[in-house]
Amino acid sequence: MAILVTGGAGFIGSHTVVELQNAGYEVVVVDNLSNSSEKSLKRVEEITGKPVKFYRADILDKPALEEVFQKESIDSCIHFAGLKAVGESVQKPWEYYYNNITGTLILLDVMRKHNVKNIVFSSSATVYGAPEVVPITEECPKGEITNPYGQTKGMLEQVLTDIYKADNEWNVILLRYFNPIGAHKSGKIGENPNGIPNNLMPYITQVAVGKLEKLGVFGNDYDTPDGTGVRDYIHVVDLAKGHVKAIEKVKENPGLKIYNLGTGIGYSVLDIVKNFEEATGISIPYEIKPRRAGDIATNYADASLAKKELGWIAENGIKEMCQDAWRWQSQNPNGFEE
Ligand code: NAD
Ligand code: UFG
Repeated sequence: MAILVTGGAGFIGSHTVVELQNAGYEVVVVDNLSNSSEKSLKRVEEITGKPVKFYRADILDKPALEEVFQKESIDSCIHFAGLKAVGESVQKPWEYYYNNITGTLILLDVMRKHNVKNIVFSSSATVYGAPEVVPITEECPKGEITNPYGQTKGMLEQVLTDIYKADNEWNVILLRYFNPIGAHKSGKIGENPNGIPNNLMPYITQVAVGKLEKLGVFGNDYDTPDGTGVRDYIHVVDLAKGHVKAIEKVKENPGLKIYNLGTGIGYSVLDIVKNFEEATGISIPYEIKPRRAGDIATNYADASLAKKELGWIAENGIKEMCQDAWRWQSQNPNGFEE
């Protein structure tokens, strides 16, 4: 039996395929390559020494998905496929709702027709909005979501919850990621954003490699120790391992489960700059800029439920996250392009 990984050529997906193969799982990847390169899967094969079965297909294309389910014996799905840029989602809400919501509805329809009722879904800490207290537990109420991308995560959590309520044969695990950064230790796979990065770590690594001049720090007047935004950064390999644990959990028929995947530690933007400089010996020039619309001051996870019920904890610290992000960027200054 195989695990279907939608969006498996992407940043988190490719790292998860490595960990699934290392744990002995058979994996089938579906990706339309709208935000990734097939080369990431070639690199995965180099890392694991195992072939990756890949279908270049869009989850909006029902006949193509049907064909995958007919050819392969799939028993669970890890669903990463989706558009994820917060700012772009404000400009292109229709595209985000169509791709993420309709795509998932089509996937779920094909799954149930083939009696595949196990799904692990990529959700986000963004569903908590601006938290009233930190660390954030899974019990914290969902907050006001300020952009269409985040809305798709909140809505899809609801869709999956209602599907489980109507049919308890489903196992639904909602994983709420905090801020994934870093890369595989081999330096062969990593984050490969199109154009100018929106997120902090890829911006920093592109400054370090000389592609960008200096980092803009979005606000230094937040109610945090140094005034800059505080987040819970998690090494992408730890996050990937969390998915393997979730797949193991599915075998226990857990029903509907929600887990935060984070480290429980908050670092400010300036902490990250300092840690990156210490870990790599490269200095990162920066300037303070105005706050970015929609940003919150602080969020970090209480990840104790994942520890208790999945037996999962994040093993890598901020130093490894910085070193590994830098190894990937320095060895692949243009990502997967030669
Ligand atoms: P990514 O863009 O690298 O990976 C997503 C993959 O999905 C890409 O390879 C893309 O080509 C593919 N895809 C998109 N639409 C598709 C479609 N219609 N059909 C088939 N494939 C499609 O992003 P990522 O950082 O690896 O994120 C993976 C998932 O985790 C996403 O759902 C994202 O929203 C979620 N997430 C990411 C973060 C983060 O900070 N990276 C945080 C929280 C949640
Ligand atoms: N930041 C800067 N300069 C930059 C980029 C970011 O100062 O060039 C700051 C932000 O203001 C924030 C912190 O760095 O304080 C982290 O920003 P990111 O854009 O890296 O990450 P976010 O926390 O804003 O968003 C991430 C994911 C979203 C997800 C959210 C909550 O990108 O998909 O975490 O989980 F929804």
